[in-house]
Amino acid sequence: MKFEDLDKKLAEAKLGGGEKRIEAQHKKGKLTARERIQYLLDEGSFEEIGALVTHRSTHFGLDKQKFYGDGVVTGYGTVNGRLVYVFSQDFTVLGGSLAEAHAEKICKVMDLAMQNGAPVIGLNDSGGARIQEGVVSLGGYADIFYRNVRASGVIPQLSAIMGPCAGGAVYSPALTDFIFMVEGTSYMFVTGPNVVKTVTHEEVTSEELGGASTHSSKSGVTHFASENEVASLNKLREVLSFVPQNCEEQPPALDYTPSEETRMHLDDIVPESSNQPYDIKDVINGVLDDDTFCEVHENFAENIVVGFGRLAGKSIGIVANQPAYLAGVLDIDASNKAARFVRFCDSFNIPLLVFEDVPGFLPGTDQEWNGIISNGAKLLYAFSEATVPRITVITRKAYGGAYDVMNSKHIGADMNFAWPGSEIAVMGAKGAAEIIFRKEIAAADDPAAKLAEKEAEYAELFAHPYRAAARGYVDEVIKPHQTRQKLIRAFDMLKNKVATLPKKKHGNIPL
Ligand code: HXC
Repeated sequence: MKFEDLDKKLAEAKLGGGEKRIEAQHKKGKLTARERIQYLLDEGSFEEIGALVTHRSTHFGLDKQKFYGDGVVTGYGTVNGRLVYVFSQDFTVLGGSLAEAHAEKICKVMDLAMQNGAPVIGLNDSGGARIQEGVVSLGGYADIFYRNVRASGVIPQLSAIMGPCAGGAVYSPALTDFIFMVEGTSYMFVTGPNVVKTVTHEEVTSEELGGASTHSSKSGVTHFASENEVASLNKLREVLSFVPQNCEEQPPALDYTPSEETRMHLDDIVPESSNQPYDIKDVINGVLDDDTFCEVHENFAENIVVGFGRLAGKSIGIVANQPAYLAGVLDIDASNKAARFVRFCDSFNIPLLVFEDVPGFLPGTDQEWNGIISNGAKLLYAFSEATVPRITVITRKAYGGAYDVMNSKHIGADMNFAWPGSEIAVMGAKGAAEIIFRKEIAAADDPAAKLAEKEAEYAELFAHPYRAAARGYVDEVIKPHQTRQKLIRAFDMLKNKVATLPKKKHGNIPL
């Protein structure tokens, strides 16, 4: 049998847009579509689908510009031995632009991923809709968007942005669970700098408008920003290690040998004064298995910390107020960030661990006018509807509405622990005394002394966890160094939890 013809075609397909364009891609500090796949997947595991697909367009000279694969490499393989589907746009072919055949290839792997219950990973590097193909390019995008939404909550969908991603093209990644960007070589925006200049007269570079640092800190559009493509793909592999293949499966667990190890240093993290900050990540790392915390949205809404980690080898999602940033207050961005993470974890059976130290919601016109009410309600909604095992540890303050929101027993948490120094009340003692004893303080010979007296009175009554414990709102007051063991046991106790929501089409989260 003669294979020359096949071998020639496949060799041509492998070259994408040709050596010159590959060289240009490398010069920009970017890998090619195939190199990215090679790096992402386990060695030798990639099986390509549709390598010989070509477009069918003849307009604007496209009949003379046919490339095998049509600008996207698609197929399946494994990451740490687990099946994933992947598409990787090839910028060397017509700028990775998306049109009919290109979109059909992506849809094919998305359909296979849904049918077979495995994650789908998109490596995006594209000039957007292929201009020469007109409306079929737009149709192709919409076919993908539709599938993104059908797949949401069924299989994990991860998007890496490794080049331009502009116009409506940004909406496919935005519909997926996590976005990974690369500093300096990737950007996302609905309209580029030129349009911005025309419409709003703002002068802005692509990087400022939609680069990795902008989206990882200002907009929160991207969850991870890495210094180069290899680091970005490593992060993607790391995130995959915490998530199950689909919503019917449990997340993968690592082997764990039980030990009675106590982490005594946890006793010394929270400062004596309740107004002094500390880094909640010291608590998170102190409780989790060593070096397993994988922070999501590290530079966005830093007053709340979210991420994956392992406890006794099992995958959990962590949501924690950060007293070291804006005193850990809940604001619009923090609420959105945490609500989305909670919903991801709940979709994919990842138990939730909450560390709570929160002075309340952030006051002010900016917050009110931008909708802290409906945005804060998202977090309340997300926790309330979550049916995975849920545990809260109150490390210090649990004040006001934020006490309710941060996975309180009242909204369905399974176990709530509090550390002995915690304060569970409507507000801090000073603020409370100023309000309820206002007249008494004003009438006193020495108002300052009166305020101090009333503050002490309120603090004695409420600035501790024992009232909440007396009601059972807190299941157990524990010493910080006991936390890890308590959590391991409690999550193990909850591992067979069955909880269902009332029958409904879908809820109406306050978007
Ligand atoms: C067809 C495209 C293309 C596109 C790039 N190319 N974008 N071909 N359709 N959308 C081609 C170029 O002609 C060029 O071909 C090759 O890809 C590489 O492009 P360069 O411009 O040389 O590369 P670079 O300088 O790196 O600039 C990249 C770029 C620029 C910033 C992406 O190409 C660009 O601005 N492209 C147009 C972007 C755009 O307006 N897209 C439509 C957005 S609207 P040769 O043969 O010279 O190598 C949209 C709607 C989606 O996407 C709607 C979904 C709902």
